[in-house]
Amino acid sequence: MTELSRFPYSFIDKIIISEEDIETRVQALGRQIASDYKDSENLLLLGLLRGSVVFITDLMRHIPHPMTMDFMSVSSYSGTESSGFVRIDLDHKTNIQGWDVILIDDIIDTGYTVHTVKKLLLDRNPKSLKVCALLDKVERHKVDIAIDYFGFKIPDYFVVGYGLDIDEKGRNLPYIASVDLNRYTK
Ligand code: IMP
Ligand code: MG
Repeated sequence: MTELSRFPYSFIDKIIISEEDIETRVQALGRQIASDYKDSENLLLLGLLRGSVVFITDLMRHIPHPMTMDFMSVSSYSGTESSGFVRIDLDHKTNIQGWDVILIDDIIDTGYTVHTVKKLLLDRNPKSLKVCALLDKVERHKVDIAIDYFGFKIPDYFVVGYGLDIDEKGRNLPYIASVDLNRYTK
């Protein structure tokens, strides 16, 4: 890969998690989930669109058991700031009653999104409900939230890559990079 194509956006500051480190960690998470759910008859990975797509598709290939996936789309963000208000734009299709559900998100920031979606899903009577996120910005949490599986804890950077975006840009990067907000224009 040339240096040019490695940094296809001018707002990239630096790579904070390499492609190789992501691959190793996602494989370990998949194996952990596979082991924890080896006796589950109805395992559903429920991803939040669109940020979790790259993560969920890699993750599930390390789970060698019968399982399925579904998606929801919620929005709480405009640019780089959480609004604290979570709106459901697209609901999942599966009737999750009696299912072992793992809610998958790309990153936990304030925690509002996962906190709100979790409450909604619990009302739908899954057999169990856990949360899995690739990244966790621990110092930004505004609600108390249990993350059962996470890939990496990161400092308070705005990051893109491996599915994560800034205004829909950057999802295609194979690594996680911080954004230089001074060089970012919408
Ligand atoms: P929360 O509700 O504040 O936890 O925000 C979670 C959502 O905000 C995630 O699903 C992401 O879509 C988005 N988000 C938060 N931080 C970042 C970031 O650094 N890069 C890209 N998206 C982010
Ligand atoms: Mg998201």
